[in-house]
Amino acid sequence: MLQIRIKVWCYRAAMRLFWAPSIRELAPRAFFLDAAFRVLAFNGIGGDYLEFGSHGGRTFSLAHQSITRYKYARHLWSFDSFEGLPKSRPGDEHPQWVQRSMATGLDEFHAICRASGVPRGQYSVIAGYYEQSLAGMDPAAQPVDVALAYIDCDLLSSTRDVLRFLSPRLKHGMILAFDDYFRWSSESVSGERQAFVEFSEGMSDWRFLPYKSFGWHGMSFVVERANLNATTATPANS
Ligand SMILES: C[S@@+](CC[C@H](N)C(=O)[O-])C[C@H]1O[C@@H](n2cnc3c(N)ncnc32)[C@H](O)[C@@H]1O
Repeated sequence: MLQIRIKVWCYRAAMRLFWAPSIRELAPRAFFLDAAFRVLAFNGIGGDYLEFGSHGGRTFSLAHQSITRYKYARHLWSFDSFEGLPKSRPGDEHPQWVQRSMATGLDEFHAICRASGVPRGQYSVIAGYYEQSLAGMDPAAQPVDVALAYIDCDLLSSTRDVLRFLSPRLKHGMILAFDDYFRWSSESVSGERQAFVEFSEGMSDWRFLPYKSFGWHGMSFVVERANLNATTATPANS
């Protein structure tokens, strides 16, 4: 009888741990980032990690852990307002996207990085709303070689700004990941997906090979040069 009780207790404890919100939300991102850096390292695709939307530093820290695991020296870049979501522009409407929500101040972000073991010299922060910060970046201080761009800025308008910035930085073999690819509403499709479909439809030099979906929300693509021989990639908007 006691043995059965202990087994039931252990089972319940394991289930509670397994379904704890922090683990449930973070584990799929951790597995995705691990796989992405593993495949990039394996295939010899160098370059930096760019993150658009860093808020609480969770994915940033996970990315750093994966980079460290595969001993593949890369610089990390965080692009965020550090004041939360911007004012909505047309097409941004979603019940969860509220102006100024998800704000982590810059000092707090540095403190999170420190606590997570991300060395200050290994990352750069570009603070400000993308409309101004991306267009106004000093050309000498911009990332040029990108291995993985992790787009976690929720809104259609923000994602459009980010993809415009990434457009001249696309290269064969890099990965584009969208954390909010499956966050639609009763009135609209996902803003990140809408922006990506518009972006990919305008591209003749590049195609986007679906790579991995992650969690209940994310999707990723490998960028391929369109003139290279390969089997036809599934269109990004299929
Ligand atoms: C969902 S949170 C990011 C979560 C983060 N990846 C983490 O792991 O904690 C979205 C972030 O995108 C940022 N963001 C969205 N649109 C932006 C814009 N146009 N300019 C700058 N930051 C923006 C917000 O400030 C917010 O911190």
